[in-house]
Amino acid sequence: MGALAAGIARETLAAEKYFPVKADQSLFETINRVKDPANKTPLEKSHGPVITAPKTVKAGEPFAVEVSVGEVVHSMGPAHWIEFIELNIGNEPAARVDFQPRGYASPKATFTVVLTKESAPSGKVTLIAHQRCNLHGYWEGSLDVTVT
Ligand SMILES: [Fe+2]
Repeated sequence: MGALAAGIARETLAAEKYFPVKADQSLFETINRVKDPANKTPLEKSHGPVITAPKTVKAGEPFAVEVSVGEVVHSMGPAHWIEFIELNIGNEPAARVDFQPRGYASPKATFTVVLTKESAPSGKVTLIAHQRCNLHGYWEGSLDVTVT
């Protein structure tokens, strides 16, 4: 009986190691965004997706969009990691990259994007990036691009 109790206790400790109960649940109730880009909190610096792309692009011509999580690159390990990065063109999903918790890959992705004139009727498109941290929830960042 003692061995069984010790086994259960050991499994409970392992579960707490991989799924800590100290995660701030409020971060999972909403889409988190950087509140003041000029004065980011440490949590915002490591979780707000940062999009790097040209300010102006030509319709029909491919360009690179890099998404990094975040301004200070988030660590990747079995207890705390970035699960995925998504890129939307306005409201339309364009791409998604999934990450594994082993820590081999940094939470960064570069997408090759082509915009059409139809995708930017006003001459502008908002690139929207999402990421999800297993402990700190779902985050969004955006960047406007002019399409000529
Ligand atoms: Fe995190």
